Amino acid sequence: MITKRGPKVRVRAKGGRTAAQVRWLQRQLDDPFVAEAKKRGFRARSVFKLEEIDRKHGLLRRGMAVLDLGAAPGSWTQYAVQKGCRVVACDLLPMQPVAGAAIVQGDFTDPAVQDRLLALLAGPADVVLSDVAPNTTGLRNVDRLKAEAAAEAVLELAGRVLRPGGSCLVKLIKGAEAALLPRVRACFASWRLLRPEATRAQSSEIYLLATGFLGAGERPPTGADAH
Ligand SMILES: C[S@@+](CC[C@H](N)C(=O)[O-])C[C@H]1O[C@@H](n2cnc3c(N)ncnc32)[C@H](O)[C@@H]1O
Repeated sequence: MITKRGPKVRVRAKGGRTAAQVRWLQRQLDDPFVAEAKKRGFRARSVFKLEEIDRKHGLLRRGMAVLDLGAAPGSWTQYAVQKGCRVVACDLLPMQPVAGAAIVQGDFTDPAVQDRLLALLAGPADVVLSDVAPNTTGLRNVDRLKAEAAAEAVLELAGRVLRPGGSCLVKLIKGAEAALLPRVRACFASWRLLRPEATRAQSSEIYLLATGFLGAGERPPTGADAH
């Protein structure tokens, strides 16, 4: 259990640091998830969101094939590999290698990149993870639409790669789920919305966990939602 503690070190506005840089640094220093990630050799604090979801919902198991979208800097990939999964990771940004994972740099919505991901998976995936975060504009509606479009693209790709019974975990901005639910209901036996402990208080992000992929073209029985 990671406890939230008060600030210990005060960051000063020296050496040409902007106010935004000072705020960012202070937040990093005050954040117990950042400290714990560093201690355990993970590249990002976001690993604790996946760890909590995995602990509570039994998402990842040894031998599973996992597609990790929006993977850089790589803490989710590290975690899935440690769980014994075979991981194919994709990000727009370069990512340091993770032993046991194949990494593709590119836009996961690009058909050529998708072909490469499918080739590396070399068969159906058990789990699709998406922590994809499109660049934000600061305009709430625009950012929500961008996040919605990214999540829609993740679900579309998941529909191509998942084995029947597979799962998809996708990051959303709160409120974007309404537009996605028709597709989720059509393709998965159940779904739920999750907000892990490690989510920053001011963040509007949530995760949609859809389980029991029905296979292409099938529909769930009425009332199958676990929500
Ligand atoms: C919050 S970070 C992911 C953190 C990661 N889960 C980890 O644990 O290290 C979001 C990532 O999504 C990536 N991203 C955004 N749009 C993308 C796209 N269209 N294709 C691939 N990656 C994308 C960004 O480059 C960024 O690295």
